[in-house]
Amino acid sequence: MNHKYKISDCNIITLSPIHNRSGNIAIIENRIHIPFDVKRVYWLYDVPAGAERGGHAHRQLEQLIVAVSGSFDVRICDGRDKKTETLRQPFQAFHIKQGIWRDIVNFSSGSVCLVLASEKYFEADYIRDYDDFLEYRGITVR
Ligand code: TYD
Repeated sequence: MNHKYKISDCNIITLSPIHNRSGNIAIIENRIHIPFDVKRVYWLYDVPAGAERGGHAHRQLEQLIVAVSGSFDVRICDGRDKKTETLRQPFQAFHIKQGIWRDIVNFSSGSVCLVLASEKYFEADYIRDYDDFLEYRGITVR
């Protein structure tokens, strides 16, 4: 099934951290703070200056991306429209729906990109070629 989510379906979720003089806690629980169950968590770290991550879409997987440390830009595209969110707040999560292309760029030094995914790792779920992505989205490649 072709998912037809648009970039307007991908939004920042702002959590309500617990503040304390000795530090803060940001919390995500399945189905309470987010609309899916997390099956896998991974994080990107030691990303070299200038490196670009992502460069793909997922067929069935949706995910949240959190800048738990530092900052980076997440560029998303639904085949027609694009938008970029700069993530730099550990209490915000960017929700990327199924069938959306993403690139993650401009990592600050020492940044950590936490990903909460709705599915286990499954390479066949990836669309890694942009023309294949446009075809998946039903957009004719000329
Ligand atoms: P990829 O998801 O393409 O990384 P990013 O979107 O962060 O640039 O994954 C990079 C490589 O790591 C790819 O060969 C698949 C592998 N990988 C796993 O084996 N398991 C995982 O859970 C993830 C996220 C990646």
